[in-house]
Amino acid sequence: MIVEGVTRVPGDKSITHRALLFGALARGTSHVGGALTSLDARSSARVLRQLGAAISPLQRERVVAIAGRGRLARPEGVLDCGNSGTTTRLLLGMLAGHRFRARLTGDASLRRRPMRRVTVPLEQMGAHISDMDGDRLPLTIRGGRLRGIAYEMPVSSAQIKSCLLLAGVTGKVPVALREPTGRSRDHTERLLRAFGYLVEETADGWIRFEPTGRIEPFDMQVPGDPSSAAFLVGAAVLADGGSLRIARVGVNPTRTGFLDVLGRMGAGVRVEDEEVVFGEPVADLVAGPAALAATEVRAEEIPGLIDEIPLLAVLASRARGTSVFRDVGELRVKESDRLGLIAENLRACGVVAEVRGDDLWVEGGGAAPAGRVRTAGDHRLAMAFAVLGTLPGARVRIDDMTCADVSFPRFPETLRAIRRKGR
Ligand code: S3P
Repeated sequence: MIVEGVTRVPGDKSITHRALLFGALARGTSHVGGALTSLDARSSARVLRQLGAAISPLQRERVVAIAGRGRLARPEGVLDCGNSGTTTRLLLGMLAGHRFRARLTGDASLRRRPMRRVTVPLEQMGAHISDMDGDRLPLTIRGGRLRGIAYEMPVSSAQIKSCLLLAGVTGKVPVALREPTGRSRDHTERLLRAFGYLVEETADGWIRFEPTGRIEPFDMQVPGDPSSAAFLVGAAVLADGGSLRIARVGVNPTRTGFLDVLGRMGAGVRVEDEEVVFGEPVADLVAGPAALAATEVRAEEIPGLIDEIPLLAVLASRARGTSVFRDVGELRVKESDRLGLIAENLRACGVVAEVRGDDLWVEGGGAAPAGRVRTAGDHRLAMAFAVLGTLPGARVRIDDMTCADVSFPRFPETLRAIRRKGR
């Protein structure tokens, strides 16, 4: 198979969530072009409508209009965040500065994910959390008068960081944060600066926020999601020939760690025509086939490629040598136990792969992959193994491909469209 042509990927999931949340906090109407319309984005739109924002339907290629009231309103009913951890954790931060009760829940996957990582610091800031099942959803939050916080985060996570920054916004209090290893994505910080908030990083790794700004209605264009583009890049790397251009993808340096790792593995991806759009760098990615070599992905690199590990692990299974991903325990609490399932599914396809402590080891080479993949409804596992299934002679059966809709609507069609038989 060869890859060819110019393609696009859906809007960035992280930026779309933030655009919807910020639009709901502004007084007046914001317009968001290129927004993601996937299930996760719809979860954010749905709960924000319950909280008083008027949001036009999320439809492909339609600008989304968000009419906010300057504050959130007391919701009718339970806020169902679906499969979306980002919706849940960022919303909890926003709700912390509002004096009403709101109850949050989610689907079976989300109800297994840890929430104390955000509720503990939010309680320190003065929010009240109740009716919580240990570490899990559902839970009730009642916001109130908040106090500022200086918080050393137990894990590097953009969701925790953004949650506390948004509590700083709605509670109008200062927030200082430090991440333990590496830097997670900084979309929230960039947006806050655009609205006049002071967000600075000190030499000793603290992020300092001061409530100096105000969220006003805005017009914005969301770039393509690099985490979605990564799967198409992976298919291009595994192809026999050709070259694929993915147009207008976000290349924020806190998101492009996978490009550095691919470069080390021998698959250089060209980044072309870079420009800055609404504070975020955007470029075309140009990828093609490569002979891959194994690599070691260091702990401090993990936050910058956290969502690309399933794809990188799949590519590592085709590389010469044994690859290791250090300190990837966080993957156990993603949409599935992603760490266990990457290894289990690679093995099911005939690859030697193992979890040792918090490290993932993947041996490369070998026969064409064949086997059954269990996704547990995890979109990124489904897409990563679909990429493995593009290899010549591969027979990879994926139990559920529909879950790709969580972040990448029409993924199977897009994957088919970029490939054709070589001469
Ligand atoms: C996200 C942060 C990451 C990432 C998720 C989106 C965000 O989660 O895995 O897909 O938009 O802030 P963690 O903060 O839990 O690492």
